[in-house]
Amino acid sequence: SSQQLSFKDQVVVVTGAGGGLGKVYALEYAKRGAKVVVNDLGGTLGGSGQNSKAADVVVDEIKSKYNGTAVANYDSVNENGANIIKTAIDNFGKIDILINNAGILRDVSFNKMSEKEFQAVIDVHLNGAFQLTHAAWPYMKAQKFGRIINTASPAGLFGNFGQANYSAAKLGLVGLAETLAKEGFKYNILVNSIAPLARSRMTENVLPPHILKQLGPEKIAPLVLFLTHHSTKVTNSIFELAAGFYGQIRWERSSGQIFNPNVNSFTPEAILNKWDAITDFNDKPFNKTQHPNQLSDYNDLITKAKKLPEKNEQGSVKVES
Ligand code: NAI
Repeated sequence: SSQQLSFKDQVVVVTGAGGGLGKVYALEYAKRGAKVVVNDLGGTLGGSGQNSKAADVVVDEIKSKYNGTAVANYDSVNENGANIIKTAIDNFGKIDILINNAGILRDVSFNKMSEKEFQAVIDVHLNGAFQLTHAAWPYMKAQKFGRIINTASPAGLFGNFGQANYSAAKLGLVGLAETLAKEGFKYNILVNSIAPLARSRMTENVLPPHILKQLGPEKIAPLVLFLTHHSTKVTNSIFELAAGFYGQIRWERSSGQIFNPNVNSFTPEAILNKWDAITDFNDKPFNKTQHPNQLSDYNDLITKAKKLPEKNEQGSVKVES
């Protein structure tokens, strides 16, 4: 038997909630009792124009269909991000959950990408998330509670043809989330990233219909709600989800090689000789791969490197655990 995850009296800001994934999140939070700020600039996929209708339609649906509580906001996340948080404070008195979801695309192969096309995408995704989070942070810190989701993308984790701007912004959001998770932990501010794939105006012209059919945006929302519930302990993590699959992504460090402090060690030739060991991802008895998630995960390696004997014919030795 499972309990119902309620969001009663929680105040949620969802950016870009006038359509696509953000709209589904806003509806789901409202259905479960949250008070929702539905932000959307209402522009095109490329980020031009604006229209209050996108956010208004979602607020109307929350009120009329689910008897829920919501307020619309039409600001651009990267031009007036702080005002979106102010909308939550002015209307509902606090901010508990922030979903950084707004985004645009300016796909073009790198050689043809102008600085403007690069900058515009970084601005909306990454600077937008900065502005919202920076405005929400003092409230979350003071109340010792906060839940934040940054929306990354498989394109950010792995790269994708024609999306240099977008993938840079998306992996930037992961880095931002990883640091905020560390700074927020003692204040019970938990921060995670999601890399979704879903049917929306972003994907409907690039993926084939039989794939799109599987990619309902309602399959993304459950993890977002779970990760932002007050009972969750999860932080500093990246999740990949699409078509009903939910999984976690993490960093992996190869088992690697520590070089002896010897005149022949720290040379390009020594690297060449040991390339297979440096890039070995198979666990060895004395030499394990690792899944680092903080800078201090280096300490162990640095300590081991320091302990190696000064002289070694081969110029290197295996890391012994
Ligand atoms: P969408 O285009 O339907 O939703 C994005 C929303 O953000 C739009 O309603 C748009 O008006 C709004 N928006 C754009 N610029 C804004 C700004 N400056 N201020 C406020 N609102 C703004 O697309 P979708 O698919 O729902 O995207 C949601 C998020 O998920 C985006 O961050 C996207 O990059 C990300 N994502 C989506 C994937 C997919 O497969 N659909 C894959 C990976 C990531």
